[in-house]
Amino acid sequence: MNEKAVVIEAPGEPERLELVDVEVGAPGPGEIRIRHHACGLNYIDVYHRNGSYALPLPARLGMEGAGVVEAVGEGVTHLEAGDRAAYASQPPGAYATARVMPAKCVLKLPEAIDFETGAAMMLKGLTVQYLLRKTLPQGGLQAGDFVLFHAAAGGVGLIACQWARALGLQLIGTAGSDEKCQLALENGAAHAINYRSEDFAARVRDITGGRGVKVVYDSVGADTWEGSLNSLAPFGLLASFGAASGPVPPVNIGSLAAKGSVYVTRPTLFTHIASREATQAMGDDLFDMVASGRVKIRIDKRYALADVAEAHRELEARRLTGSAVLLP
Ligand SMILES: NC(=O)c1ccc[n+]([C@@H]2O[C@H](COP(=O)([O-])OP(=O)(O)OC[C@H]3O[C@@H](n4cnc5c(N)ncnc54)[C@H](OP(=O)(O)O)[C@@H]3O)[C@@H](O)[C@H]2O)c1
Repeated sequence: MNEKAVVIEAPGEPERLELVDVEVGAPGPGEIRIRHHACGLNYIDVYHRNGSYALPLPARLGMEGAGVVEAVGEGVTHLEAGDRAAYASQPPGAYATARVMPAKCVLKLPEAIDFETGAAMMLKGLTVQYLLRKTLPQGGLQAGDFVLFHAAAGGVGLIACQWARALGLQLIGTAGSDEKCQLALENGAAHAINYRSEDFAARVRDITGGRGVKVVYDSVGADTWEGSLNSLAPFGLLASFGAASGPVPPVNIGSLAAKGSVYVTRPTLFTHIASREATQAMGDDLFDMVASGRVKIRIDKRYALADVAEAHRELEARRLTGSAVLLP
């Protein structure tokens, strides 16, 4: 069968993304071969494409997918041919009709969750899982606590709004338009701030009675860094987990004392899903949140795999909300 995959020969603009014919062989030890029914679109794919996160070239792209396992290699015991499955995983290569990949981070997809939802939720949902469950200030988070979550109407953001509501947290979401703020509120944010038209740190002080939030989850980076530090309560935690607006400037560590003995971390999902056991435990938590309806995965845009360049343009231009999938 003729298989297709998206490759780049060099980093650059979306035009670099090429859909080409590829051979997909048999899985080796610890690997599976999976036929994708849907592939996820994520901001990390933009960093891979434009070279912010350098990949060996030529490179395949895509970190998230769902489909049917066609074959398993030696030593793979948690999956078998015919299983419905979904993943967020290294190495890139999910933008493809089918692929061979390590089995470690691939999970059985519960019957209640369809393939498009599976492809739309794994990388983003596992990220929210480790942020809200494990990336916590000293003493943890309790119901009623305020957290600040940037880009709250995006793929990760809308899952975070709902998950935070389920935990009883008061999530203050930021977004780049009034319409996006409305969407964040409809999905569980307690407050929403349009950070293109308002000083979000000042609004956070108003909302929290001057105290600030216990945690800021910041995936915007350069544009929000200073305001995020200024939004923290004493001993608060700034979790910088992305840089959609550009990299965070070098940190003056002394400023962390001045801001109130605050903490800063720069987590990545891939540390959290380093083992199969950890991936399964996090996945089970995510599946439970979705299957129970506490978190609904919004797929606001579907693209043919061949239209991947258009998908990247729209993602970078901040025209998307919720999750988007590519259909092979
Ligand atoms: N570290 C990790 O483990 C991890 C894992 C998953 C995702 N992430 C990060 O989480 C973020 C969200 O990922 P996602 O895939 O769900 O994407 P997304 O939130 O759907 O899209 C990114 C959003 O960032 C906002 N943004 C602010 N300034 C921007 C700028 N200058 N250019 C482009 N976008 C800008 C936009 O929302 P507004 O218009 O509302 O501002 C945009 O919609 C990304 O930064 C991603 O790298 C990190």
